[in-house]
Amino acid sequence: MARTRPELLALVFLACGGPPTSAPACDDGWEEVEPVFRTWCTSCHSSELEGDLRYGAPPGVDLDTLAGVRRSQAGVRAMLEAGAMPPAGGLEDADRDTLLAWLACDAPGTSVPAPLDCGVPTVVSAPEDASGLCGELALVVEGDLRLQGDLSLPCLCEVHGDLVLAGGWADLPVLERLTGSLRSEVGVTGLSAPRLVEIGRDTSLTSLTDLTEADLATLASVGGDLVLRDLPALEEVRLPLLREVGGSLALEDLPSVRAIDGEGYALRTVGGDLVLSGMPSLGGFYGFGQLQQVAGDVVIEELGGTRLDGFTVLTRIGGSLTIARHPRLVAVDGFDLLEEVGGELVVREAPSLQGHDAFASLRRVGGLRLEVLPAAVSLGLPPLESCAGDLVLRRVGVGDLVRPEGLTRIGGSLSVVDDPALEALTGWTALEEVGGDLRITDCPVLPASAAEAVAAAPAVGGTVEVARNGP
Ligand code: HEC
Repeated sequence: MARTRPELLALVFLACGGPPTSAPACDDGWEEVEPVFRTWCTSCHSSELEGDLRYGAPPGVDLDTLAGVRRSQAGVRAMLEAGAMPPAGGLEDADRDTLLAWLACDAPGTSVPAPLDCGVPTVVSAPEDASGLCGELALVVEGDLRLQGDLSLPCLCEVHGDLVLAGGWADLPVLERLTGSLRSEVGVTGLSAPRLVEIGRDTSLTSLTDLTEADLATLASVGGDLVLRDLPALEEVRLPLLREVGGSLALEDLPSVRAIDGEGYALRTVGGDLVLSGMPSLGGFYGFGQLQQVAGDVVIEELGGTRLDGFTVLTRIGGSLTIARHPRLVAVDGFDLLEEVGGELVVREAPSLQGHDAFASLRRVGGLRLEVLPAAVSLGLPPLESCAGDLVLRRVGVGDLVRPEGLTRIGGSLSVVDDPALEALTGWTALEEVGGDLRITDCPVLPASAAEAVAAAPAVGGTVEVARNGP
């Protein structure tokens, strides 16, 4: 395993009581030569290769670990001096000199310790436990790890299992990889894992009253769900490099969060749902400008701020898109390339929303529901060509609702109900088919004759109700 990071070297120096004072030629440790062996030798000479994959390299002559090289030290030196390896040649002079100089110093270096494998979860519950574990240079835990209390593990590089935070503050400055899941139990106050790149399975920090920090600044991929929910004291979500979430991504009930760092500008794919909900302190949302597809639902609910922007390259949402309950939202922008919403597009309960400059490419929806948007005077429908389910317009402030030219059939019901400002339904007499019911009621300024004309036009699968409209 490559351990070439400067801070680990720093630890070596500390362990040796200061920088080495030996001759300059012997400055190189295993960290410097390991990449050279990896480039030229370990494609055949590796403890992880067997049989044909070794291309004839004798068993036991393994050059992927310091211990392995030291075992074959004399032979390695002989081969290098003779220029006999790799068999096909090619080893660059500079690399050969580096290896020979290092061997001449008697192959100095510190091994990466063997993984800790206890067969049972490793429990670290006191600073003494932590310093006991971190006596070594770098620590890889095989199996589950449980951390209880305020702890720093400056040596922990990888966990091949689950990581459970069982209360307190966990400071994991060099943790890079976690193959299992990350879970929290009550009483967790902080998590700092500023180098963690990958989490194999689900990650959840939920219902933690006192959690004030969750630093996951380099997290790039999460195999399962990533859920931050009900964290009343958390003020910032830091996920600037997150690219990929295999399951759902949910940021929910985070009343103090004022910013999402980078607004997830790196996010490319979400395998499940994407939920942004319950963040009333957020000043507006502008993010996810790289996100192309969401397989499940997108739910954007109860956010602060006056603008919802971003999602500029998102083309497809497998499930529904719901934008709901935003007390201050004035404009929806973005969603410029969105072509398809498999489920319903719902915009609901945004009392200040005046309109949108969004959904300019949206052709296909499973349904469309615009409800309780009293200020939405400039609301238009997207250029739909297909609406598989219901199309509902209820309590919206728009004066004229123009039929998208390409929309001739509605798979479900068409309801235009309780729209106090609606004066016209331009183009709807060209509608050919409504699979379900057709309802135009309680629109006090829509001329009754106009409503009747629209209702008379298409073939209707269900019942027709036209009532309590205007003069
Ligand atoms: C393409 C595969 C391959 C690569 C790459 C390779 N070797 Fe080998 N190595 C062999 C084979 C095959 C043998 C056994 C045949 C031989 O001895 O010539 C061998 C034998 C050896 C031996 C054992 C010699 C002995 O008789 O004890 C040493 C030591 C060795 N290689 C060192 C190296 C070093 C150092 C490198 C990188 C600079 C390297 N090899 C790269 C295939 C490889």
